[in-house]
Amino acid sequence: MRKELACALAPVGLLAELTHRCPLQCPYCSNPLALEQVSDELPTEVWLDVLAQAADLGVLQLHLSGGEPTVRRDLEDIIARAAKVGLYSNLITAGVLLTRERLEGLAAHGLDHVQISLQDTLAGNADRIAHYEGGHAKKLEVARWVGAAGLPLTINAPIHRQNIASLEGFIELAVQVGAQRLEVAHVQYYGWALTNRQALMPTREQVLHSADVVAQARERLKGVLVIDFVVPDYYASRPKPCMGGWGRGIINITPSGKALPCHAAETIPGLQFENVRKQRLRDIWLGSDAFRKYRGTDWMPEPCRSCEFREIDWGGCRCQALAFAGTAAATDPACAKSPHHQAFAHLAEVEASEPASAFVFRRPRARAK
Ligand code: SF4
Ligand code: FES
Repeated sequence: MRKELACALAPVGLLAELTHRCPLQCPYCSNPLALEQVSDELPTEVWLDVLAQAADLGVLQLHLSGGEPTVRRDLEDIIARAAKVGLYSNLITAGVLLTRERLEGLAAHGLDHVQISLQDTLAGNADRIAHYEGGHAKKLEVARWVGAAGLPLTINAPIHRQNIASLEGFIELAVQVGAQRLEVAHVQYYGWALTNRQALMPTREQVLHSADVVAQARERLKGVLVIDFVVPDYYASRPKPCMGGWGRGIINITPSGKALPCHAAETIPGLQFENVRKQRLRDIWLGSDAFRKYRGTDWMPEPCRSCEFREIDWGGCRCQALAFAGTAAATDPACAKSPHHQAFAHLAEVEASEPASAFVFRRPRARAK
């Protein structure tokens, strides 16, 4: 029987970045600018042990991500272990490396759910954004295999100025390929997306229109497709509770085994991240300085400290506060109460009003086009 953590702070999800290797080069990739090397990746036995520890800790959901997780030849073993210890497994994949046989094999090993992200509904533009020719057609093929294998499917649509005109098309396409859920996620500007912010930032009018499109589609497709909608922080007046709050619900493990409170946490200077090769997951979660640093509300300055929303959004995003306000302890500039908010929103409007610059793809040697 599973030994649950006798603590209200038990994390719900584990995001396992199995590798930073990926055949795609999306200009909004959530991986860090300094990608981890294959020689540093955790061996199979460490991942298997981490999954057992996660289940003991009370984790319910395992998100298998990357890079591209299907480059790992031990993915079957990892999924089988997740099933054995009672974790619900979600494979977040570009799909382009999968064969039908391998996908069916993953299902047979206990995989519970698949998430595929599309760059556009127009194949030419989708392949340009991913910097991978033929990728879009292959993704659609894999999406249909997912349903045929009896697995639920989520389509993820990262939205930005260079594909926002296809929003209605994304919704139709998600229905056509048999997805149960569509995530319409305006790009969040950390890491590679921050580098490419000007090339990706939509106008305020485009964002407002996208919210209308989603609202109408939700009404029309009740019982057919669930649509999640993530707005871009730059046009918001309240921040999102990033990661559900720092150190509250999610543990992110990098390919080399570093345990992070969020995928961009390494951008914050002065934080020390423990490694699952050396420390038990429970000790890292409960005791490490990095997870405790911004957990809860004690660390908050004003205006968050006395704000009625402090236990709803947990002060927003630490990494965005660092990137824009210069310190991770500041109020997220997405919040209208932040002294940086006006400059933050203004910057987005200025960038969106100018012609898009060339993409910087996530491989340094890739040419912009
Ligand atoms: Fe959230 Fe802080 Fe803004 Fe209040 S002041 S809404 S707690 S970010
Ligand atoms: Fe790090 Fe939001 S991305 S706290």
